[in-house]
This record gives sequence, structure tokens and C-alpha cells, in this order.
Amino acid sequence: MPNLDVAPRPLTVAGLFAGIGGVELGLEAAGMQTKLLCEWWEPAQAVLKHRFPDVALHDDIQTLQALPDVDVVTAGFPCTDLSQAGRTAGIHGKASGMVKHLLELLEDASPRWVVIENVRNMLALDRGTAMEYLVSEFERLGYTWAYRLVDSRFTGVPQRRHRVILVASRTEDPRSVLFADEAQERPESDYREDAFGFYWTEGNTGLGWAQDALPTLKGGSGLGIPSSPAMWVCNAEPGRAIVTPRIEDAEELQGFPRDWTQAALKVARPGVRWKLVGNAVTVGVSTWLGNRLQNPGNVDETGQLILLKGMKWPTAAWGNSGERWSVSASLWPEKHPYRNLLDVVDASNAAPLSLRATTGFHTRLLKSRLRYREEFSQALKEHSEYMAGSISAA
Ligand SMILES: C[S@@+](CC[C@H](N)C(=O)[O-])C[C@H]1O[C@@H](n2cnc3c(N)ncnc32)[C@H](O)[C@@H]1O
Repeated sequence: MPNLDVAPRPLTVAGLFAGIGGVELGLEAAGMQTKLLCEWWEPAQAVLKHRFPDVALHDDIQTLQALPDVDVVTAGFPCTDLSQAGRTAGIHGKASGMVKHLLELLEDASPRWVVIENVRNMLALDRGTAMEYLVSEFERLGYTWAYRLVDSRFTGVPQRRHRVILVASRTEDPRSVLFADEAQERPESDYREDAFGFYWTEGNTGLGWAQDALPTLKGGSGLGIPSSPAMWVCNAEPGRAIVTPRIEDAEELQGFPRDWTQAALKVARPGVRWKLVGNAVTVGVSTWLGNRLQNPGNVDETGQLILLKGMKWPTAAWGNSGERWSVSASLWPEKHPYRNLLDVVDASNAAPLSLRATTGFHTRLLKSRLRYREEFSQALKEHSEYMAGSISAA
């Protein structure tokens, strides 16, 4: 008789391209144990050494000789060449091409699971060839793969962030991890109308507009240190209606404890923390994933359709041995209680957007063909006037 009192052995993890450990923190919250981290960027290493002091840290994946004997290999490989914010050189670009080292390491390893995370644009890039390359490589190595696009807001954080999660295995069914949960999109009533996020650096062709949320925190642009998004607080005092959140707010919007990246300050300028946080996986996403890796669920196979080579990649799919199916799965596997934006960002403590940034953005917006709320334009005008007044009064 098996002893049912004995807890199952926790799954072990090797985290490649570990960044600040968003994947590993979530997997550990689900009960797993990290055995190896691989990350070459000094500020990220400083955070990992501080937050995972007992875990071996290797620097460059190109010099990693072999993977340790672990159950799960994770790899949020660089999105610099894939994201719209980046250079879009593609999957074989200098940064994103690093994924080939993961594939080489997998030739001689037998983890139970491989987990990859990347930007939504990976599905569309080069008319789907980036994705085609990845899944064909997994198929060549004998893996069954599945992926699902998810929105971080399912975890309850007020950040609209769409990311592709791909799970592959030679021995298990990745569908039982990715498609066992379906919660459908949040109702509109979850979102309040008292704060809106936007990118003040945009305003020509888009706004990054988000209701009761911030738009995706960015990290991978490669064009320098990314700026924070801004928010419009509708009923704020003059001078506090257009503000930018603090880095600690951003950490919380990614599911990390506040100050998670503080150790980076030992080796880098404060702005670097935005890049670290913007690069990361939302911790609640990897916690969901970790729970399912430990305890795979049942899959409803209805709604699957054959996916032919060359067809547009859908938001969820799976395949093996050259056969592929699209899956009808929403961006919302679970639905955790929503934390409203003003409950995470203390607007009274956030920095007002500068006069220059506000007027620049407002001018672009007025010249653009974008649709926006008249009250928003009015709030930008009043904020500029207030900031101009406070400068001349000083
Ligand atoms: C998209 S980020 C991953 C973020 C991570 N999943 C997290 O939650 O923080 C990609 C990471 O890969 C790292 N990286 C890029 N090339 C590398 C290499 N050759 N060896 C090790 N790490 C590398 C980058 O420094 C960056 O931190």
C-alpha cells in the first residue's frame, strides 16, 4: 500500500535567462525547488544573489556545459528581437537567438517539463516563422508542446500584460497544464473608472490606454532604459492628476514584493530597475503554472481545430510530430480577486508627470487621429498649466 501521508517530492527547477526570478519565485510559491539559475546581466545577478542566496548561479548560457538533473527547465529567453518595442530582428537575432543554446542543452537532457515565456508578438513575427522555428525544434527533439496567451490581470494585478506561455514535454501532456483551467474574461464591472494608465511616450499611433490598470511594463526595448507608463487619476487634486508610479508600485504590479529589485542599486543606476521589472514574468502567472505542473488537470478537447502549416498562429495551440491543433482557450485561465489600480499605486505619493513630458504628449495627442476622452485632454491641459505655474512660482 502506498503511504498516502507522504507528500509528493517537490519538482526541481533550472531557471535559464532567469532575470530577477519571476518564474522561479512563482514556481517556488507552488512548492518547487530551484537548483540552478543562469543569468549574465550584472544587475539581475545582484537581485538573484540577494533573493536566492542558496541557489547556484551560472552567468552565460553559452558556457553552460550541461543542464542539471531537474524536473523543470524554464527559459524566458530575451524578447529584444521579438517585441514591438524592440528591434524585431527576429528569433535568430543576436539576443533572441540565444534560445538556440537552450535547444542545444536539451539535446542531452531529459527534464520532465520545459517552460518558455515570451511576448505576444512572437506569434505574429515574420508571419509566424519565429513560432514555427520553436515548435519544429521541439518536435525534432521528440517533445509534445502547447502554448497559451495569457493576460496578467487574471492573477488580480492591475497590469494589462499579454504573454505566451509554452510548455513542452517528452513524457507528459502539456495540455493538462495549460488548458485545464478556464475562467473567461473579467466582467467590465471589475474595473473602476477612477484611474487610467497610458504611455506618455506614445500619442502618435497609440496610447497604451488601460482602464483601472497600467499598460504592459516594458523592459526589452534595447533602446536604453525604458520609461514608466503614466496614469490619469480622475478626481485628484490639481498637480496630482497625471502621475507616474514608483518602481515599488511596478514591482507589485508584477506580483513581486515591494523592493524586490533593490539589490540592483549596488551595481546599477536606479532606472535599471524598470528594465528588470519590465522584463520579468508576473509572479502570479508562474504560480498558476507551477500549481498545474505539480498537479496536472483534465482537458476538455472540444473546440480543437486542425492547424495547417502557414496558418496564422492562434492564441492557444498544441501539437506533436508535425500535427497541430488550435485550442479554444481564453487569456484568463483563472480569475483572482481584482486589485484596483489605486489600491496598488498610492497616487498621493506618485511623481507628477513633468511639464515637458505632459505638453509633449498632449501636443502629439491633439495632432493624432487617435480617439480619446475629452476629460482626459482637459486633465492634461490643466496639469500642464499647474506644472508651469509651480515652476514659475519656484
Ligand atoms: C526576458 S528576460 C527574462 C526575465 C525573467 N523570466 C524574469 O522573470 O525576470 C531575459 C533575460 O535573459 C538574460 N540573458 C540574455 N542573454 C543571456 C545569456 N547569454 N546568458 C544568460 N542570460 C542571458 C538577460 O540578461 C535577461 O535578464
